[in-house]
Amino acid sequence: MSQTSGYADLDSIAERVERLASLEGKALEAEEIALLGRKSGIITAKLRSVAKLPLEERRSYGARLNELKVRADAILVQKRTASTNVDGLLVGADLTMPARRRWVGAEHPVTRVVDEIVEIFHGIGFTVAVGPEVETEWYNFLALNFPPDHPAMDMHDTLYLDAPPAKGEPGGRLLLRTHTSPVQIRALMQSPPPVRVVIPGMVYRNDAFDPSHSPAFSQIEGLAVDEGISFVDLKATLIHFAQRFFGPTTTTRFRPSFFPFTEPSAEMDVECQLCHGSGCPACKGTGWMEILGCGMVHPAVLENCNLDSERFTGWAFGMGPHRIAMLRYGIPDIRLLLEGDMRFLEQLGRKA
Ligand code: DAH
Repeated sequence: MSQTSGYADLDSIAERVERLASLEGKALEAEEIALLGRKSGIITAKLRSVAKLPLEERRSYGARLNELKVRADAILVQKRTASTNVDGLLVGADLTMPARRRWVGAEHPVTRVVDEIVEIFHGIGFTVAVGPEVETEWYNFLALNFPPDHPAMDMHDTLYLDAPPAKGEPGGRLLLRTHTSPVQIRALMQSPPPVRVVIPGMVYRNDAFDPSHSPAFSQIEGLAVDEGISFVDLKATLIHFAQRFFGPTTTTRFRPSFFPFTEPSAEMDVECQLCHGSGCPACKGTGWMEILGCGMVHPAVLENCNLDSERFTGWAFGMGPHRIAMLRYGIPDIRLLLEGDMRFLEQLGRKA
């Protein structure tokens, strides 16, 4: 830009334009206004009067003047970008403020419990099966040998869907499943024995939302059906599970119980995880904690799945991962596992 234009006034303006690059702050602002200000900037004023010049002069003078304006604008833009990068960002910043920590998610304790249980059963030949949360009465109750209106159904009150019954009546009314046991039926009808599956999923009941109940909670069902399966297999497998999950010295006990879909039926307790058997408020002084229901699959259930109950036998179990997470981690209130409060979950979650 050192080239002279032959117009003395423009040469001195060119020098001032180039000097813009060395100015800062208020001085820069003042010079910008002096040169380019809309009302009285020198360049602006001269551009406005170009039209009055004789034609031959108008072209070269006007072109040179315009070049100066473009050049001045370019210098100003460059200076502004540079100052935003450095000064702009730092103005008003507290340089002692700690950097923001990256948010890292944590695994939910119930997810962790479900994964561990599935893994233990996977190690002894079980695969995972899943089924729908909206079920028919047939799968949820009738095929599982609940006689209509049996008192065992009182514990299984749930929401019925206001939708036309699924085909295949009776028992076609739709409901939110109350347990994962209907998936036993689905698994047996889908592929013939040998069947060895674990079935995780959510279930729904007309229960209060209080420290020990929730209208929605998780279950894991287990099912093994084959020729020659006995109660010995059931006990050995569930004791193996308890010792892998709770620790190798964990003691267990089986108590007789009742479920319509198993005969005989039992409940399995493990030694209290908090007091290890001596008795504490969590186990109500008994030293034991109930963790699952189980039993030999009722012959009527096998027949409902078109299987010959003379040839095939099997066992099943059902447990609640929410309850097991509470026992394992000493959590006093199931709602803590369902409310999604990060302050609580972060304390127990394994970093993902
Ligand atoms: N379905 C039962 C319930 O929700 C739990 C259960 C008990 C499942 C015994 C089983 C079983 O498979 O054998 O109360």
